[in-house]
Amino acid sequence: MAEQRKAPSRDEIIITRMSEHDLLEIVEIEEQSGLSKWGWAAYYAELQSGNRDLMLIARVARSSIIESPIAGYIVARETAGELHINNVAVRSEYRRRGIGAALLDRVIAEARRRKVNAAFLEVRSANQPAQALYEKSGFKAIARRANYYSEPQEDAVVMSLVLG
Ligand SMILES: CC(C)(COP(=O)(O)OP(=O)(O)OC[C@H]1O[C@@H](n2cnc3c(N)ncnc32)[C@H](O)[C@@H]1OP(=O)(O)O)[C@@H](O)C(=O)NCCC(=O)NCCS
Repeated sequence: MAEQRKAPSRDEIIITRMSEHDLLEIVEIEEQSGLSKWGWAAYYAELQSGNRDLMLIARVARSSIIESPIAGYIVARETAGELHINNVAVRSEYRRRGIGAALLDRVIAEARRRKVNAAFLEVRSANQPAQALYEKSGFKAIARRANYYSEPQEDAVVMSLVLG
C-alpha cells in the first residue's frame, strides 16, 4: 500500500515583545526591506517610551536548540485613542508564510483589548504586497498623500480599520 503523505504543517510562529537585544537584527531586517529608515536609535527610543506591548517580533519555531533568527517585526503606537502602525517587515526568506499577518493580528488584538477606536497607517502607493496584507486584515484605503515619501518620491496611501 502506498505511503500516505501528510500535509505539511504550517510553521509555528512565536510572537514576543521586542527588547533592546533584538535591535541589531531589527535594523538588519529594516535595511533589507526598503522601509523608511528608523535605525537603532529610533527603535531604542521607542522601547524606552513604554510602548513594548505594541513592539513585537516573530520567530519561527525550530526543533533545534539554536534560537531561530527574528523573522519579522512590527512597531505600532497608540495615540489619542488611535492605533498607528509605523513599521512592519518580514525577512525576505520568511515571506508568504503568514508572519506579517500574524504580527498585524496581534497588535490589532492588543488595540481592541485597549478599546482603541481605529487603526491607521501609511503605505507607499506602489507597495502592493503590503497593501494586500493590510486589506486581508480588513484595512481600507481612505486617502492619498501626494509625495509623502522621498527616496524615491512617492505618494502614500492612508489606510484605516475601524475597531470600535
Ligand atoms: C509586506 C510584508 C510585511 C508581508 O509580510 P509576509 O509575512 O510575507 O505576509 P503574509 O505571509 O502574512 O501575507 C498575508 C497576506 O498578505 C498578502 N500578501 C503578502 N505578500 C504579498 C505579495 N508579495 N503579493 C501579493 N499579496 C501578498 C496576501 O493576501 C497574503 O495572504 P496569502 O499568502 O494567504 O495569499 C513583507 O512583504 C515585507 O516585509 N515587505 C517589505 C517591508 C514592507 O513593505 N513593509 C510594509 C511597510 S508599510
